[in-house]
Amino acid sequence: MDYTTLGKTGLRVSVAGLGCGGNSRLGMGAGKSMEDAAQVVRKAIELGVNYFDTARNYGTEPAVGAAIKDVPRDSVVISTKSTIKVDGVRYTAAQVLDHLNNSLKQLDTDYIDVYMLHGVAPVDYDYALETLAEPLLKERDKGKFRHLGITETAPRDPTQEMLQRAVHEPCWEVAMLAYHMLNQNARTKLFPHMLEKGVGTLLMFVVRNIFSVPGLLEKTVADLVKNGDLPDDFPNKDDPLGFLVHDGGATTILDAAYRFARHQPGADVVLFGTGNPDHLQSNIDSILKPPLPDADVTMLHDMFGALTTVGLDSPDSMPKPK
Ligand SMILES: NC(=O)c1ccc[n+]([C@@H]2O[C@H](COP(=O)([O-])OP(=O)(O)OC[C@H]3O[C@@H](n4cnc5c(N)ncnc54)[C@H](OP(=O)(O)O)[C@@H]3O)[C@@H](O)[C@H]2O)c1
Repeated sequence: MDYTTLGKTGLRVSVAGLGCGGNSRLGMGAGKSMEDAAQVVRKAIELGVNYFDTARNYGTEPAVGAAIKDVPRDSVVISTKSTIKVDGVRYTAAQVLDHLNNSLKQLDTDYIDVYMLHGVAPVDYDYALETLAEPLLKERDKGKFRHLGITETAPRDPTQEMLQRAVHEPCWEVAMLAYHMLNQNARTKLFPHMLEKGVGTLLMFVVRNIFSVPGLLEKTVADLVKNGDLPDDFPNKDDPLGFLVHDGGATTILDAAYRFARHQPGADVVLFGTGNPDHLQSNIDSILKPPLPDADVTMLHDMFGALTTVGLDSPDSMPKPK
């Protein structure tokens, strides 16, 4: 495993981080048990992963909590999070602090490494900053968590307006953002500023559905051409990213997706979600490989750099938080 420093938090983290949400939720999204999910976390630890991202909403905090019992607490870095509203109604600060306490219970741990506000839309950012951050920082000072972070809602904020504001606010030490081969907005709009301010970055949507559901990439590109977002003469619509797979390049499109994100300057942890041990291994293998050839990365920048709303699907349904 390769390790890096998560921005100004100083935490040493694996460059491959296990996302315990997304549609997979450690396999629980496909009906696997909590114990199966905990086994995925244990296997990831064996492979050198030390970063685990969960959330109150994912229903996977107990699986993470059970798995990390086997190792010294300070050998793993755990983030979890609370949304800031439900059914259009904002949570009060007291409710968010209840969520924090409940996450400590669900994870069965004394402290959380990174506590994050989850999926904050631009319209709610002022509320997050002015009403929720200070009470949370008081809990941090009591030792309940170490670092405060914030995550965007990619489907509802595709141009990343919220994080373009949050990057300038020192209380958010970590940010989670969407970045992938057909969604490169952050390359110019966020990463340079996050590097400058020392904000630790967690990348999501690196694969999501667009690169894992067969046929979706091809359909997406065909629609982009039809809508005029890509040129009419776009080459090879039946295999739009096939040019990335060659000797000395990527082995598969998924391999390309992980390597493209991992080697983006300013990217700290590439999150990936899975409930499948084979996917766990192959995703880590890809994340640890060298960058894609420069010419391929330049092609991706030139072909897709202007797109902003692609491959940012909303999650399938999540369980009701306990
Ligand atoms: N706003 C937020 O805070 C927010 C939003 C979204 C995500 N996240 C975080 O980011 C993490 C990553 O989520 P994501 O949405 O970017 O998507 P993702 O979890 O990376 O999605 C990958 C999907 O592809 C499948 N997959 C994984 N590896 C594969 C492989 N090698 N071959 C074929 N299929 C593969 C997975 O299912 P299998 O089980 O079949 O492998 C999963 O359904 C989440 O777990 C969560 O921690 C946070």
